[in-house]
Amino acid sequence: MMMNVLVIILVNKVEMLLNTVKRSQCHKEGDVKMSIQISDEIRVHIRWLVSRDMREVLEIEHKSFEFPWTEEDYHRCLRARNCIGMVAEYNNEIAGYMIYELCKSKIQLLNLATAKQFRRLGVATQMMAKLIGKLSSQKRNRITFEIRETNLVAQLFFRSVGFRATQILKDYFEEMHEDAYFMQYRYTPEPTETEYDKAHNRIIQYLS
Ligand SMILES: CC(C)(COP(=O)(O)OP(=O)(O)OC[C@H]1O[C@@H](n2cnc3c(N)ncnc32)[C@H](O)[C@@H]1OP(=O)(O)O)[C@@H](O)C(=O)NCCC(=O)NCCS
Repeated sequence: MMMNVLVIILVNKVEMLLNTVKRSQCHKEGDVKMSIQISDEIRVHIRWLVSRDMREVLEIEHKSFEFPWTEEDYHRCLRARNCIGMVAEYNNEIAGYMIYELCKSKIQLLNLATAKQFRRLGVATQMMAKLIGKLSSQKRNRITFEIRETNLVAQLFFRSVGFRATQILKDYFEEMHEDAYFMQYRYTPEPTETEYDKAHNRIIQYLS
């Protein structure tokens, strides 16, 4: 009898020990995954697009879109005074690019792509952060973009950086009779310290 009790206690102890090991392995896996996510992110240098970048940009463009912009489309667009092209560079290689138009009260994003080998590494997120940094409450306070209804990946990307779809534009892309989602990012100023002070919680007085 005594022996049986001892065996049961021993088995329980071993089980507990195994569970602890399993849990700590899970935790380790989680940690590893987190560290992969962090180390997977690459830091790109974002600069103006210049004419010697065009070959690489066009290559990414053709690999990224069913209906790519031609070189002439790029030239026509970038000749306009308010149209700007930027590239994200990593180790002297072009990892991505964006084209946008500075309008009076908003930034209109016209084109954005990341080279396939650089995707899911935070490249487009960094380009968007750069663009968002140009917004202010006084001047341009939003970024807008029309995205194909079928481009789910890009919709997920824009959602992840804070864009919201606010409208459906019927037949926006004529060549395929495809609808578009009108997506926009709105500038929200950081609350100042005084605004924090003003944000007074009305139930806190009942908690003490
Ligand atoms: C859309 C696009 C620009 C995203 O570029 P990217 O550099 O890979 O994006 P990021 O690495 O910054 O992704 C940020 C987040 O967006 C979301 N996202 C990006 N790609 C995704 C995918 N394939 N599936 C699901 N979510 C995705 C995720 O939330 C991702 O964060 P996570 O990787 O931590 O999960 C890129 O996929 C691309 O060039 N696509 C083809 C061109 C295109 O459609 N351009 C946009 C319309 S002009």
